[in-house]
Amino acid sequence: MSFSIHHLPIPGDTLLSPMDGYSDQPFRSLCRGLGSAMSYTEFVKAEDVLERIAHVDEKLAFTEAERPVTFQIYGDDPGKILDAALRIQERGPDVIDVNMGCPAKTISARGAGVGLMRTPEKIAEIFRLLTTHLEVPVTGKMRLGWDESTRNYLQVAKIVEDNGAQLLAVHGRTRAQGYGGQADWDAIAEVVDALKIPVIGNGDVTTVADIDRMKAHTGCAGVMIGRGAMYNPWIFSWLERDQVPPDVVRTTMLRHLELNLAFYGPERGLVLFRKYASRYLSPYAMTREVRQRLMTRETAEEFVALLEEVVAGAKLGAGELQLQEMEGVDCAV
Ligand SMILES: Cc1cc2nc3c(=O)[nH]c(=O)nc-3n(C[C@H](O)[C@H](O)[C@H](O)COP(=O)(O)O)c2cc1C
Repeated sequence: MSFSIHHLPIPGDTLLSPMDGYSDQPFRSLCRGLGSAMSYTEFVKAEDVLERIAHVDEKLAFTEAERPVTFQIYGDDPGKILDAALRIQERGPDVIDVNMGCPAKTISARGAGVGLMRTPEKIAEIFRLLTTHLEVPVTGKMRLGWDESTRNYLQVAKIVEDNGAQLLAVHGRTRAQGYGGQADWDAIAEVVDALKIPVIGNGDVTTVADIDRMKAHTGCAGVMIGRGAMYNPWIFSWLERDQVPPDVVRTTMLRHLELNLAFYGPERGLVLFRKYASRYLSPYAMTREVRQRLMTRETAEEFVALLEEVVAGAKLGAGELQLQEMEGVDCAV
């Protein structure tokens, strides 16, 4: 299946979530290559764009093969969000998205991220401004509200649509829930029913079977996968994690490492790859000592040599494959 964002056809209906610190250019490219239907960048702060802070270039870098590409922006000042959006539009994204979901205190407490959901009139102004002045389609990503007593998702969803947005992604939790409990897919279904624009369902999709369940339960146009893809990027090729043979794990890891080294350079590329490596290898039985050695190799050559050993061992112990709980994931945002 597929859907469109205004006139832009999206080649598929399952895609990688924007994730600060994770959905960088190498990981997005990897997932896109495995079947993720489009790319969302990590979010950038409107003020950082306007002040030309260096990390913005890194976060918004993308390759042509990643298209369709959505740039995500956050802020609490409609005028600054517009100015920043106009500036990043010059870099050629296909879509610009407004974050209304980040629960991190430093962001939401000042009224940005999910903090915007407490000021629906500001959301109306932001979308009115962006959809009037930008050439690319504008989309939004939100949670269900601030807390249990203010689950104003239907009100906000309508406002977003009425002010010209072309798509809305909904993570089925409130700010107060953080990443705990279960995402409320009934609420996502309500948003799907209430809107004419495509709605993307998000929250707790970790298996291929979940993708089908989310679609059937909510009627959403697309499914967005965040934490589950950190363990199983092969989900975009319709493989459950325990169906991925060690050889494929090895090849994909080498490809991801190569992309990281090319993008960040040899030192940072390897350091930043470790967090993914640890998740990719989490199903395999590995002694604490081997894991520790793997995570402290200082050159890519040493890392690859040890990885080959681990994967060769995993072949023998394939029966021990099991998925780790996701509790340990760093969910600061
Ligand atoms: C480490 C991390 C970083 C995130 N960064 C962003 C972000 O930059 N923008 C955004 O809209 N959502 C962000 N999210 C939220 C995810 O996009 C997604 O909504 C959430 O993880 C729920 O989906 P899941 O259950 O598939 O993980 C982040 C989540 C995590 C775990």
